[in-house]
Amino acid sequence: MNKKIQNIINKKNKSKIVSLTAYSKNIAKILDKHCDIVLVGDSLANVLYGLNNTHKVNLENMIKHAASVRKGIKKSLLVVDMPKGSYKNFKLAKKNAKLLMKKTDCDAVKIESNKKNFRIIKFLVKHKIPVMGHIGFTPQFKKKFKIEGDSKKKAENLLEEAKNIEKAGAFSIVLECINSEASKLITNSLKIPTIGIGSSNNCDGQILVTDDMLGISGFYPKFVKKYLSLDRIIEKAIKKYTRDVKLKKFPSKKNFLNGSR
Ligand code: KIV
Repeated sequence: MNKKIQNIINKKNKSKIVSLTAYSKNIAKILDKHCDIVLVGDSLANVLYGLNNTHKVNLENMIKHAASVRKGIKKSLLVVDMPKGSYKNFKLAKKNAKLLMKKTDCDAVKIESNKKNFRIIKFLVKHKIPVMGHIGFTPQFKKKFKIEGDSKKKAENLLEEAKNIEKAGAFSIVLECINSEASKLITNSLKIPTIGIGSSNNCDGQILVTDDMLGISGFYPKFVKKYLSLDRIIEKAIKKYTRDVKLKKFPSKKNFLNGSR
């Protein structure tokens, strides 16, 4: 097994796993200093492309962004989302996961669960492709953004789904928007680490969409903690630039290219 992946598994019950998303090199380079896992999520559909859901993102989009992120990553585990439709059957899943790994040199792929596709995970793992699972609110398969696992029966169903994914050989699993008690039950029942988003601190690690926590995406549900209002900082700089251009303060002599760069 990839050493980085074993290190992530070894963190269970020892230290919390820190993860964030990245879609390009410059942000990835900053995250790499602090994160255990950097995910190129298909959330780039909403965050970068302004789409209403993640359904139209394709493998080519994921490869382009992941290849850029790879350039900024030295130490973190790089995981890339398999987009909707790219793992419909065993053959397609293997072909696309291999292509994704070859073109981006990522360490693992992530697959959203539809309760049945743990079989696809098992097949990929058998072919030496490391997979991270994803249960709860899975935007590729569910329309409504709502809390998951909020009854005993629903929590038990999620646990069964998680156990199937673990048995299939996934090395970790994202729990998205899962009730805190259900998250605790799942986390305590699995040997592999759980990474929560909107699923309380009962998980082995946490992930957020970086653009949300930096305050640039405009999407701030209750589970997002905004660590910065980057939108305001950027606007301040844009206003200064606008003023400088209008007042002919920029470019000044020191920005002229007379002779040297
Ligand atoms: O696409 C994504 O960014 C994700 C995270 C929210 C876990 O799947």
